Amino acid sequence: MSLFRKKSIDELLRTTKQGKTLKRALGTWDLTMLGIGAIIGTGIFVLTGTGALKAGPALVLSFIVAGLACAFAALAYAEFAALVPVSGSVYTYSYATLGEFVAWIIGWDLVLEYLLATSTVSAGWSGYFQSLLSGFGIVLPEALTAAPGAVPGKTTLFNLPAFIIVMVITFLLARGITESKRTNNIMVVIKIAVVLMFILVGVGYVKPANWQPFMPFGFDGVFSAAALVFFAYIGFDAVAAAAEETKNPGRDLPRGIIYSLAICTLLYVIVSGIMTGIVPFKKFEGVDHPVSLALQFAGQNWFAGFVDLGAILGMTTVMLVMLYGQTRIFFAMSRDGLLPKGFSSVHPKFRTPFGATWFLGTIAALIGALIPLDKLAELVNIGTLAAFTLVSVGVLVLRKTEPDLHRPFRTPGMPWVPLLAIAFCLFLISKLAPITWMAFFIWMAVGLLIYFVYSRKHSNLSKQGE
Ligand code: ALA
Repeated sequence: MSLFRKKSIDELLRTTKQGKTLKRALGTWDLTMLGIGAIIGTGIFVLTGTGALKAGPALVLSFIVAGLACAFAALAYAEFAALVPVSGSVYTYSYATLGEFVAWIIGWDLVLEYLLATSTVSAGWSGYFQSLLSGFGIVLPEALTAAPGAVPGKTTLFNLPAFIIVMVITFLLARGITESKRTNNIMVVIKIAVVLMFILVGVGYVKPANWQPFMPFGFDGVFSAAALVFFAYIGFDAVAAAAEETKNPGRDLPRGIIYSLAICTLLYVIVSGIMTGIVPFKKFEGVDHPVSLALQFAGQNWFAGFVDLGAILGMTTVMLVMLYGQTRIFFAMSRDGLLPKGFSSVHPKFRTPFGATWFLGTIAALIGALIPLDKLAELVNIGTLAAFTLVSVGVLVLRKTEPDLHRPFRTPGMPWVPLLAIAFCLFLISKLAPITWMAFFIWMAVGLLIYFVYSRKHSNLSKQGE
């Protein structure tokens, strides 16, 4: 049954000791920063406006529902991540537990998540950046401001700022983790400072009357907004992708994942509560900068400008971590022979997957420049929810098949926590648009084709005679 051939966990750990390895430079603090760097971005700065239109002030509940789905999945992720501290995130863990075929499906699914998330966020970044430029009187030629068809009534051809920012990030990542880490940490501190500033300034302008009626569209509204703002949480799983570059994975990985998720959930609930408390939610119609709009509404234009700047930096770090996770997954899939070997060559000086980084970075930049943001965002959500579901299944399976493995971190509340993660994720998938399900199935069909035509034959395990 070669579809279900597995890597042994010992073998996975050995692979990392055979020369093709990455530098171990990250601790709990760096991982938490990496997580927050990936999490706070377009979700809170752009999608909250659309979310508020769907749920009203009950958007706070939507954030709690989506946060719970992530919290349960995060606890499963943490067990896997600590157990198999090898590059490639959940793709690698599933290779050891559910077999090569499922691992391929998950890996292909993660390409959808990370690559398209980088592109989605680059489009959001471009909007804020252009608004900042216009403050200085600089306006780009219309054709270069957005993807074709992104803005009704405008002839747009190519989103130039989105393309350029992804190429800059690609350059940083190709140069090495230490440099990128430092850049990331500084930007994350600024981003959190801006969010805290919004909370401290905004809280004084809250009018409780704006929270009435609290749930104008009922639970249906709350849940469909939850399926959308789920995007705001994507990224904590990228922490797990850094396992092979972590100093003490058994301790640092679970902490990094859980700390970053907890901090962001708290901030989101407070920020969305304050936003809908300052501005009557209907005023978010057609607004692509809802957080700074709330401060403008309160007459705090100066602080609103700071929020714009923070959003730009915030979205930059999201792209940094997403693209980072993407390159590491490709690296791992290539090292296993499922993708061409060129993707796992390590640069002699920078010790990074140099070629893979430039290849993937260029694709992400082109997609962000050519496809509208809203088309991409829902696809990212479905890809991620599917991956979370599979990880939770993986934890349950592994507890049965390998009960005696040393687990530096154990998912608490077995089997209920992974079961709840599965239930929450499938529920949120059911709240996405049917067209998104269709696109997802097409993407997966292409993945299956590649697997059966190329990967199955070239897999290292196939060469070893299974
Ligand atoms: N969570 C990330 C964001 O909101 C993807 O931008």
